Amino acid sequence: MSVRIIQPSHNCKGEILVPGDKSISHRAVMLGSVAKGTTRISHFLSGADCLSTISCFRKLGVAIEAKKDQVLVYGKGLHGLRAPKEILDTGNSGTTTRLISGILAGQSFPCVLSGDDSLNSRPMGRIMTPLNQMGAHITSIGGNGCAPLRIEPGPLQGIHYQSPVASAQVKSAVLLAGLYASGETSVTEPSLSRNHTELMLKSFGASVSSCVHPDGSATACVLPCEELYARDIRVPGDISSAAYFIAAGLLVPDSEILVKHVGLNPTRAGFLKVCQDMGADLTLLNQTTQGGEMTADILVCGSSLHGTVIEGSLIPTLIDEIPILAVLAAFADGKTIIRDAAELKVKETNRIDTVTENLAAMGADITPTDDGMIIRGGRPLHGTDIHSYLDHRIAMAFAIAALTADGSSSILDSQCVDVSYPGFFSELERLCER
Ligand code: S3P
Repeated sequence: MSVRIIQPSHNCKGEILVPGDKSISHRAVMLGSVAKGTTRISHFLSGADCLSTISCFRKLGVAIEAKKDQVLVYGKGLHGLRAPKEILDTGNSGTTTRLISGILAGQSFPCVLSGDDSLNSRPMGRIMTPLNQMGAHITSIGGNGCAPLRIEPGPLQGIHYQSPVASAQVKSAVLLAGLYASGETSVTEPSLSRNHTELMLKSFGASVSSCVHPDGSATACVLPCEELYARDIRVPGDISSAAYFIAAGLLVPDSEILVKHVGLNPTRAGFLKVCQDMGADLTLLNQTTQGGEMTADILVCGSSLHGTVIEGSLIPTLIDEIPILAVLAAFADGKTIIRDAAELKVKETNRIDTVTENLAAMGADITPTDDGMIIRGGRPLHGTDIHSYLDHRIAMAFAIAALTADGSSSILDSQCVDVSYPGFFSELERLCER
């Protein structure tokens, strides 16, 4: 087990370029693999999750060269994947498992997917149901609705799927299978989740449309296609990774941090909106758009924050940032309520439990609820042992909490940050003075 000791900091200053967006990096490898031609990806996230995606597509016969954050994917075309000789290991990655299932449902060979203990305890029924309705035959080998999954492809037909959850992984699995189906495939979700798959499919030449309905639900449609066409992709910095350094800049007094080239797709940017609602001093500079994805540099200055309510359609736009938002709330004046976020229970850990346990251990006033948590901010936090339970976002969120606690904290199993942010701790050391 690796342990990181974090000492309080009195000042965080400087510039930082966070690694590429995890969601976009996965999708770039996946679409590149089934496109015609070579996809060049720059600023790719070489974290463990995206490396799992690369390794699965290599086993499916795709040549992929990866040098640091530069990746070349020699696409095989929509029908060029070949049967793997072994089980596809998806590691800790829910995105790899769920999205690749959509692609595998449309192939001409069966295969088996499996991941680590955390992954193999996360619900897969949410993708098995629609993909099986389309004509695939996907079974949970353990009979518990989780991976390992056996995927037998079928001739697929397009469906309209009403998803009970706002989940980009579910939506993307169905849309990717839709490339191989007869007729149109569409997914309606209760509110709009991240739309990177729709944007990237369009830029690879697929026919995709989407809309948000007056009641806030959202539909995306795809038509079957003959070919996707490779293109170059510069992956924006991951707002989910930027969130830790934005929080450090806000919480540590007299800080000033410039986070460069951060992806600001509106379906991902809820974290910034909530920070601003809480009184954060954030300035967006150098805004641009590439491949439909907005980016900007974010200048963050130390701020005093107040409590807020985080709920409804905002939740899917910041679901991965809730651990760090809970940390901000613990330092804010007044009460913060997070609700409509039951999805937290099926992430890498049950994040309602793991956030509550660790914030309470630091001395915060936090009450877990069935779909979120209530935090009464303003109590001083003290350093302690933080149990990450191998959840990267818990490890990083509490490393930031530790910067403004009194006394030192130990982040247990800290190596799990490699899932989405290798180099996180050295960047923290570089920017934050002790
Ligand atoms: C992701 C979607 C989200 C998010 C995950 C990445 C994606 O999951 O939590 O980290 O890349 O599509 P859900 O779709 O389950 O909400």
